[in-house]
Amino acid sequence: MNSHALDFAIHYAEPIEKDKMENFDARQLQSLCNDVEHYILCTQQYEKRVAWLPDYMKWVNRYLAHQVLDKLDVTLLEGESLRLLGVGSGEGAVEYQLLSHILTKHPSIHNTVVEPSQTQVDMYKDLIKAKAAELDGVKYDWHLQTLGEYQHHSEMSWDKTKFHFISALYCLYYEPDLDGALAYLYSRLEPGGILLVGMETENCDMIKIEKQFQFAQDEVNPLFCTEHVCTFFKKHNIPYVICNQPDDQRDFDITDCFDDTSDEGSLVLDFLSNVLHFRQSVPPAVLKEFRDYLKSLVTVRDGKVFLFYDSAYILGIKNKVPAVSNASCL
Ligand SMILES: C[S@@+](CC[C@H](N)C(=O)[O-])C[C@H]1O[C@@H](n2cnc3c(N)ncnc32)[C@H](O)[C@@H]1O
Repeated sequence: MNSHALDFAIHYAEPIEKDKMENFDARQLQSLCNDVEHYILCTQQYEKRVAWLPDYMKWVNRYLAHQVLDKLDVTLLEGESLRLLGVGSGEGAVEYQLLSHILTKHPSIHNTVVEPSQTQVDMYKDLIKAKAAELDGVKYDWHLQTLGEYQHHSEMSWDKTKFHFISALYCLYYEPDLDGALAYLYSRLEPGGILLVGMETENCDMIKIEKQFQFAQDEVNPLFCTEHVCTFFKKHNIPYVICNQPDDQRDFDITDCFDDTSDEGSLVLDFLSNVLHFRQSVPPAVLKEFRDYLKSLVTVRDGKVFLFYDSAYILGIKNKVPAVSNASCL
């Protein structure tokens, strides 16, 4: 297939003709979050297209984890473990990179994992088994819960454990109240600790698509990106550092999203639209509008089409001695 065959005139979609839209109510569309197993299939399909994933993982291990260790200001008592809290850890692939680096300085770690999907937790446990030698020194405490559920249970049981390092990577947009979630996580940090939040930036094509269509966005699926996190930290006078994703690691192939016969393309369409079985659920005119919008964003290379991906990591720091001026820090 070449770029001409795809007919990629860069233009924004025409408004949808009314008669083609009869009986279509976007509110009937189901969010991808309603089917965790299908969501995992979609993310796996996305990850297959991210050619730079192995280099990215190295970057997490060598650069990002180094930044965390550099900013972490903790003195452990003899025999005390470094306490970590992983929120929405997924299959643990990214956290494993962080953990294995942190272990080089803190050989004893207690890792509390809060992840609502049993499938993801099972995959995380498989990873730990496979990497047992490298992860020697880490003890785990599993919570099959959303962050909201974990917060509720902790409050009910008066569990006020503080953590030295909390990571919440690509998951806080599943909580209805981002500011509330950030405030809660920050409150669970030890002085000298770090809250690491990973999210897409507003330059990311996936965020642009979400902003344009806002499919299946209810109070459970609000639209958040890194800018919201920075605004929160600024507002509360919390010192933070941004680590941007490396420049050479940015795009992913969506060529088969334009092929009606492709099952894999259908999964990627679900991933991009945030809608369960998007291709099968929307009228042809909506599918066309969606694809036209994708065309307006893509770059074409070697007969394939790519969307731009961009995310950043924000390290919120809890100073041992809080700054007195400008108040807050919650
Ligand atoms: C995009 S994946 C990110 C996984 C992992 N953190 C990473 O960076 O690879 C999002 C994860 O958040 C989990 N999740 C969904 N809703 C959540 C919630 N309300 N609280 C915590 N985790 C949630 C999902 O089950 C999924 O494993």
